[in-house]
Amino acid sequence: MAPILQVEKLIKKYGNFEAVKGVSFSVEEGEIFGLLGPNGAGKTQTISMLTGIIQPTSGTAYIGGYDIRKDMDKIKRLNGLVPQDLALYQTLSARANLNFFGRIYGLGGRELKERVEDMLRIVSLTERADEPVQNYSGGMKRRVNIAAGLLHQPRLFFLDEPTVGVDPQSRNHIFESVLRLNRERGISIIYTSHYMEEVELLCNRAAIIDEGKIIALDTIKNLVAMLSGVIHIGLRQVDDALLGRLAALPAVQQASIAPQPVPPPPAEGEEPKEREIPAAADYQIVKIEAEESQQALINVIAFLNEQDIPIASLQVLEPNLENVFLHLTGKKLRE
Ligand SMILES: Nc1ncnc2c1ncn2[C@@H]1O[C@H](COP(=O)(O)OP(=O)(O)OP(=O)(O)O)[C@@H](O)[C@H]1O
Ligand SMILES: [Mg+2]
Repeated sequence: MAPILQVEKLIKKYGNFEAVKGVSFSVEEGEIFGLLGPNGAGKTQTISMLTGIIQPTSGTAYIGGYDIRKDMDKIKRLNGLVPQDLALYQTLSARANLNFFGRIYGLGGRELKERVEDMLRIVSLTERADEPVQNYSGGMKRRVNIAAGLLHQPRLFFLDEPTVGVDPQSRNHIFESVLRLNRERGISIIYTSHYMEEVELLCNRAAIIDEGKIIALDTIKNLVAMLSGVIHIGLRQVDDALLGRLAALPAVQQASIAPQPVPPPPAEGEEPKEREIPAAADYQIVKIEAEESQQALINVIAFLNEQDIPIASLQVLEPNLENVFLHLTGKKLRE
């Protein structure tokens, strides 16, 4: 079966700045696909191109076989969007908001009424549906937004960071709604977040996006498995000879310098002061990759002891998406 979404080398530029740098991926019908990345990674920009809010600078995407450059009017019927920022009439009730948005989609009469009630149920708001939205918590407002994005029965549903600023109860309701929509109604979902636990919980596959580029894309299981044998060891005076000897140890596959976060440049007119380099910067993180970390760890520690090389830090990376991001970029997902 053709994928519901096929993205091909999407680029978005603003002057010389490239917000999205040639992103490609595809989503199969019935998948929950995660776009995971830090602030400014390009998640919203990518979604905005796929939903016709902004035009790509180059590249394209196909949704249900239609080209976003030519067939956006047809695509808008297939797409549902929950934007990162809320769009609701605060003085109207949830039910009235949904009726209003339904009419924009050309719905009316009994069909509209039934869908509004159905969507209120999906997001668990039936009981409070007649209160003005301004009385709702952030999470409840977000759920009205989700219901609004579903009224025209999209096949592909984009949720852009739907749990930011949301109370825990609403967060759980949102998770349940997403899973229910997918399992019971077969809706394909694109879910963006910078909370890796959410992506781990909800998604089958995910792309990790950083600085406008996809740096990893796989099933959650395979992404996390990337770390099954990764050890970070902090050492002073690392050179190629040492890395070579570490890599040659039994059970070790590779030894390299882990990517380091780039330190901020000194302020204008300020000389970098060597003596003030913080203690954390006086050693380098060596990344040891192994088939299986246990034996590699034993061998590496034994070797370093033998050579009288002090260990400044040691970390066996717990297999989760946060650490996958750290492993790939040297940065924390949320700083
Ligand atoms: N209209 C614009 N003009 C110039 N740059 C823009 C514009 N809109 C977005 N950008 C830039 O594009 C980059 C990607 O932004 P985007 O909103 O896609 O990030 P994001 O991954 O959604 O982040 P967040 O998690 O904070 O929502 C950012 O550096 C942002 O400043
Ligand atoms: Mg965003």
